[in-house]
Amino acid sequence: MTRPLPAVIAAVQNASQRMADRHTPFVMNEWYVAAFGEEIKDQLLARTLLGKRLVFFRSTQGHVVALEDRCPHRSMPLSAGTLDRDTIVCGYHGLRFNTEGDCIEVPSQANCPHNMGIRAYRTHERGAVVWIWMARRAKPTSTNCLRKTGWRAPSGNALKAIWACKRAMCACTRTCWT
Ligand code: FES
Repeated sequence: MTRPLPAVIAAVQNASQRMADRHTPFVMNEWYVAAFGEEIKDQLLARTLLGKRLVFFRSTQGHVVALEDRCPHRSMPLSAGTLDRDTIVCGYHGLRFNTEGDCIEVPSQANCPHNMGIRAYRTHERGAVVWIWMARRAKPTSTNCLRKTGWRAPSGNALKAIWACKRAMCACTRTCWT
């Protein structure tokens, strides 16, 4: 077997340093699949996406709500709390948060501390799939790419879902995974 030339070895080593690894940050400013719509009901659902803990529920209006799963008081996961109409009540000391992530009630206090709240994430439900936008600064891009109707999940085990992306139906120019 012929040994590769030193220049080739150096080029490969150089290229591998630029490849993604476990230290590479996530690409945040993209829409990501968060769940199947059927998974999100009028109860709290905890899920970790892009390294962030989130809590989901479906509001009384039928919208998918996604909030940071961490109480700003003592960091209790809000998914361990209680869903009360369209608010989450923390299971530790009872702070209450609305669908925007604002703290709207503190037991035994007349007012909530100024600016106390958690992050709310933008979601978009299309067909069987719920998408989420997790970038903090960048505004969500158009949801045109999510308009495909071919996404479907067979009933039963969501992990065995068949992703049927009909690329030809997508009008955008971005790369979609199939
Ligand atoms: S940790 Fe949530 S209210 Fe105290």
